[in-house]
Amino acid sequence: MQIPHGGIAFFDSGIGGLTVLSACEKYFDDGVFYYYGDNKHAPYGNLSPKKIRRYVFRAFKTFQRLRVRAAVLACNTATAVCVEELRKKYDFPIIGAEPAVCTAASKGGKILVLATRATCESERFQTLCKRAQKLFPEADICIRSCEKLAGAIERNLYKNTFDYTAYLPDEYADAVVLGCTHYIYIVEQIKAFYGCPVYHGNEGIARRLFAVTDKKTDKNHKEKPCDEKSRDGRPPKAVFRKNLGRLTTFCKRQVKRQKNVNKRLRLKGQKSLKNDKTSTLFFLGNTRENNEKVYKQMFVNNE
Ligand code: DGL
Repeated sequence: MQIPHGGIAFFDSGIGGLTVLSACEKYFDDGVFYYYGDNKHAPYGNLSPKKIRRYVFRAFKTFQRLRVRAAVLACNTATAVCVEELRKKYDFPIIGAEPAVCTAASKGGKILVLATRATCESERFQTLCKRAQKLFPEADICIRSCEKLAGAIERNLYKNTFDYTAYLPDEYADAVVLGCTHYIYIVEQIKAFYGCPVYHGNEGIARRLFAVTDKKTDKNHKEKPCDEKSRDGRPPKAVFRKNLGRLTTFCKRQVKRQKNVNKRLRLKGQKSLKNDKTSTLFFLGNTRENNEKVYKQMFVNNE
């Protein structure tokens, strides 16, 4: 039995994108999902853009073979380095991870944006921060690169009492923006350390994914090449309105939902997880077992 084609793919350097996957899954009652974490090369944050590109494009080759209907670049670093190139090359919608800088800056005050070195040095990220600064001049946007934080999270996730504060810039902030999906695992520790609101973009990614993915199409549907606007995660208005209605219904259903894994399948050496909705999740790549383990431990109840 083969892995079914036409699902929704998620990519990250490692475990960070699982936080995105978990946020997105809640918007769907069924469907096929793939998760590709490249833990072998993680963290990406201190690698050269050239290397990052090479690894990301390798994963996307697999996505192309699976004829995915959409892909989520659940990695701020990969988004910052190569989302535009990926969109040029592939004809399925690609949703990137964008730090919630504008949301935080709209409240004013000192905004500490934490991200990897590669993200901080990227033109895309710097343009975003400049745009936010211009839009909200009452905010003071401070970019801080956390060189070792993502790696420390990747290594110490299961140590509940691990203290990450040594990896955080020690300064005052009115709000903190998490510009790396790995940091979301330690959001409570970051909140406690800075004593201020902490923003991240996972819900925004989930809403964009839901909006660009027309639920009327079945699992095997292959997304038609879409215009620049919809590739950017902004769907044509009609689709967005239609899906927004469904979104409310889905959210209501979500309250009742129990995320109870009741079946496990083994297909061609690849594992899939099936839950009580009818979605199925496949882990891809060399380190799929590691990511499946983290996913089950962190995001699946009643195991
Ligand atoms: N989780 C990734 C991000 O959002 C990458 C972190 C890393 O590998 O350095 O940036």
